[in-house]
Amino acid sequence: MATIEMKKESAISSDFANDTVKGLEASPKRLFSKYFYDKKGDKLFQDIMAMPEYYLTNCEFEIFETQKAEILEFARHSDFDLIELGAGDGTKTKVLLEYLVSQDADFQYLPIDISQNALDGLEADLNLTMPQVKVEPQQGDYFGVLKSLKNIGSRRKMVLFLGSNIGNFTKPEAELFLKEMTNSLSPGDMVLIGSDLKKDPSIIQIAYDDPAGITAAFNLNLLERMNRELGANFDLNEFKHWETYNPTTGETKSHIISKKAQTVHFDCLERSFDFGAWEAIWVELSQKYNLQELEDLADKSGFEVVQHFMDKKNYFCDTLWRVKSV
Ligand code: AVJ
Repeated sequence: MATIEMKKESAISSDFANDTVKGLEASPKRLFSKYFYDKKGDKLFQDIMAMPEYYLTNCEFEIFETQKAEILEFARHSDFDLIELGAGDGTKTKVLLEYLVSQDADFQYLPIDISQNALDGLEADLNLTMPQVKVEPQQGDYFGVLKSLKNIGSRRKMVLFLGSNIGNFTKPEAELFLKEMTNSLSPGDMVLIGSDLKKDPSIIQIAYDDPAGITAAFNLNLLERMNRELGANFDLNEFKHWETYNPTTGETKSHIISKKAQTVHFDCLERSFDFGAWEAIWVELSQKYNLQELEDLADKSGFEVVQHFMDKKNYFCDTLWRVKSV
């Protein structure tokens, strides 16, 4: 029964199983936020983006609405491929796409996401609302996708990495990732990186620990996903969501904490894992930057900063970079 269940699942499920075993064997325990985004997780993340405490989405919206012409200046001069990493439901990107269409820009849109469900929704929506846009979705995780960037064609590229998705990387990982990205791009290609900025810690804290408990449900959905896909028997009442923001490092970390000593069995893996009382599983990093740190990151990974675009509260930055010529 257990093995039959496993075979029905796609490749992602076996990655999910492998990463789960590795992460729960590790000390301290750790799971990966890329697995948040199953159907239920996609929906919960949309709910997060709609909550008043989660200012990131609104800030980036405002930046696009007010500064789209400056952000997309280069698009007037050449045909290009617009590649979006972690496109999700693409709501914010639509502001940019609409502008490009209104300018008769010659481009193709290549959204990439870990969630096929989100991509299907995005493609259907764009076909309906912006049939002029040529859409070419691709499912995969960021590193897999970097390798295929090279084969995407010889046109000028603009890579969008929005919504503070970069924050899921540690700072060293971000540098490594962006270095690899420059290797897959050509001098003159552009990236637009949306990053949440360091600010009053209480504003950050509540964005990741909202009183309605939507973020808690989003994180705990990872346990439910293990129950659904790996046959685990997590009791959600015996775990809690815990958020920390470290204003020195800019690290916002989400944890799932076991409220008591307990053992969880995974039918599909034919094994169990023990959790100590108040033992934590680290599940997500949402790294915050300041402008200096973003500039250092650009420099170290082979980009030059073209311009920072910010909302009027200076909560969020979409920073536009160009691959340096060597
Ligand atoms: C989609 C990774 C940018 O880290 O802010 C929102 C995910 N986690 N609330 C973020 C998230 C909790 C989000 N990113």
